[in-house]
Amino acid sequence: MVLALESSCDETSAAVVHRGEVLSNIVASQVRLHAEYGGVVPELATREHLRNLIPVVRQSLQAAGVSMEALTAVAATRGPGLPAALMAGWTAAQSLAAARGLPLIGIHHHEAHLYSPWISGQPPRFHKATIPPHVSLIASGGHTLLVHVRSELDPVILGGTLDDAAGECFDKAAKLLGLPYPGGPVLDRLAEEGHADRFEFPRPLRDEPNHLFSFSGLKTSVRVFLEKHPGLADDPQDLRDLCAGIRAAIVDTLATKLVAAARKTGVGCITASGGVACNRGLRRELQAAAKKRRLDLRIADPAFCTDNAAMIGLLAERRLARGESTALDTETAPGWELETLAATGMTIPSPALPPVAPAASRRP
Ligand code: KG4
Ligand code: ZN
Repeated sequence: MVLALESSCDETSAAVVHRGEVLSNIVASQVRLHAEYGGVVPELATREHLRNLIPVVRQSLQAAGVSMEALTAVAATRGPGLPAALMAGWTAAQSLAAARGLPLIGIHHHEAHLYSPWISGQPPRFHKATIPPHVSLIASGGHTLLVHVRSELDPVILGGTLDDAAGECFDKAAKLLGLPYPGGPVLDRLAEEGHADRFEFPRPLRDEPNHLFSFSGLKTSVRVFLEKHPGLADDPQDLRDLCAGIRAAIVDTLATKLVAAARKTGVGCITASGGVACNRGLRRELQAAAKKRRLDLRIADPAFCTDNAAMIGLLAERRLARGESTALDTETAPGWELETLAATGMTIPSPALPPVAPAASRRP
């Protein structure tokens, strides 16, 4: 019975998982708080995490019908993410584990995203038995990664973005169009009623033989286009068509590169997760591309695309089952590289602490 916490960015989440099943998954989103500033403000995020953590933990235990005494382990996101935000959740997990004498396990946020497409059903379960070698797209507000999962718990990063993340591009383009933050979902909704072929935007690096993305040029081209056509976005249908054109450029780039990576690595399966995987255009495009190329496709359920503690807990169970855990005095890892996982696993030895000077020799 694992209690998992997630606090790497602007969602405070707690979940209880048991034998691959999600018993509860409570997410307190801070989107409205940060909307006023047009982006995540780290100090505000940390304060909100501190405020929300205990209520969210209580709610998740209650929703799962589980008492604190029934827990057998505590998991939390250890990195990567906003340093102070990570510290809030990680310190709570350390305290709980210490107080109750339970094993603690620190989870890599992106590795948890990697396996979120395999959570499905009601109640949601982790279908680990069916995980074949695959290539996964993780696309969120902060990251755009193509990862080759050679076998379970053995990921290799193929490539990522050279500048803006896909979600950031959606949000910045939406802001240029005067849409509210976070603009990705709003732009997606408007694009549903637009004509994508009316305004064409560039697909940077789409056809290059590498696994890299670059979205800052696309954002600039939207800005330049709007400067050349002032007032265009004020007309509702023009706005929808612009949204459809921008979405098509991002989605086409993501889908083309994911499929190309599958072909290059020779895998028969592709997956997608992260906030941008909620995008309806991307979901449709991936379905069509997978069918055409005869690839198996799994896209995370929208509830598990965005940040959540259920994915942290389910991965924690897998790693705990392998005898892994994290020493209680381990620190957070805001810049943790996914690649180092395979080499070190999750069992992190206690850092060598400097010896404490005997009391008598201490200066007052
Ligand atoms: O994974 P996530 O919740 O948080 C992190 O960034 O870690 O992703 C949020 C990002 C935002 O940029 C948001 O605009 C984008 O995902 N997003 C979408 C959609 N839903 C969320 N982008 C495009 N279409 C959507 N439907
Ligand atoms: Zn995330």
